[in-house]
Amino acid sequence: MEDKYGLIGAPIAHSLSPAMHNFWFEEYGISGDYRLYPVEKCDLVQAVSRIKEARVKGFNVTFPHKTAILSLLDEVDEAAEVIGAVNTVVQTGGRLIGYNTDGIGFLKGLQRNFPSFINKRPSILVIGAGGAARSVALTLARAMGARVDICNRTCSKAVALSAACGAYSDSDALKFDQAERQLDRYQVVINTTSIGLNPDADHSVIHLNRALPGTLFADLIYSPRRTAFLREAERLGHPVMNGLSMLVYQGALAFQKWTGVFPETVKMENHLIKMYLMS
Ligand SMILES: NC(=O)c1ccc[n+]([C@@H]2O[C@H](COP(=O)([O-])OP(=O)(O)OC[C@H]3O[C@@H](n4cnc5c(N)ncnc54)[C@H](OP(=O)(O)O)[C@@H]3O)[C@@H](O)[C@H]2O)c1
Repeated sequence: MEDKYGLIGAPIAHSLSPAMHNFWFEEYGISGDYRLYPVEKCDLVQAVSRIKEARVKGFNVTFPHKTAILSLLDEVDEAAEVIGAVNTVVQTGGRLIGYNTDGIGFLKGLQRNFPSFINKRPSILVIGAGGAARSVALTLARAMGARVDICNRTCSKAVALSAACGAYSDSDALKFDQAERQLDRYQVVINTTSIGLNPDADHSVIHLNRALPGTLFADLIYSPRRTAFLREAERLGHPVMNGLSMLVYQGALAFQKWTGVFPETVKMENHLIKMYLMS
């Protein structure tokens, strides 16, 4: 029988993870079947005990369980503990071990697409302070030691994330208008908010006209492939990166934790664009 893998969360019907992992299982001749397991907020405890009993070998965790699951695991990796969220779980010897591959997934995408930015230890502005922002900002602060400033609609969350980043790098919390005024201080600007998804598809999260030439603009959203934020950055002549590399690398890192194989990522990005993200 094939080993069981999956994704828990709600809503998850739109997820590309089954397509990605089942493609890799086939490609590498590894026994595995990755399925969606919709789990509502109130059903998490029961779902985790069912997963243990069913000997599911590994699973991903998404909204709304990334933080709540920490207390239900037998062990949590140090980086996931610092981030305060888990997106990947490995079951081994009846123990559940939690990891967070989101932030490293973003960093690996940046390294592959724009290696010269990494070498220059850029000053970074992260827009947003939700779960994805925590993974990305803390990973970049820890890995690069460069300035990582945070701006967010809810100021208290920007202050808290900036304080956490401050353990590894310089970091300030800013309001949106402050960030817009001092945009020329950053070499990389990352939108981690959900602005850019429908119904906010035509709304860019901040004004970009103060940015210096060559500033890289990244968005964690990959569908649409170009949010209004990235379209505006491209119109002004800046390099841009959407969230597809992050999606594929966070998945590849999870696949490696489960199987020991780090799968090919460029072919996967092209496969997902062709099969699912043409619009
Ligand atoms: N590419 C990938 O692999 C990947 C992985 C994970 C997430 N993502 C994407 O990242 C985005 C955020 O996910 P998340 O898990 O971090 O969500 P989350 O925890 O709910 O955080 C949402 C963030 O967006 C901000 N926000 C939402 N609506 C806003 C509005 N109208 N005006 C200003 N700010 C607003 C929130 O600000 P407040 O704090 O003020 O509410 C918060 O900072 C989503 O689009 C998700 O699809 C992509």
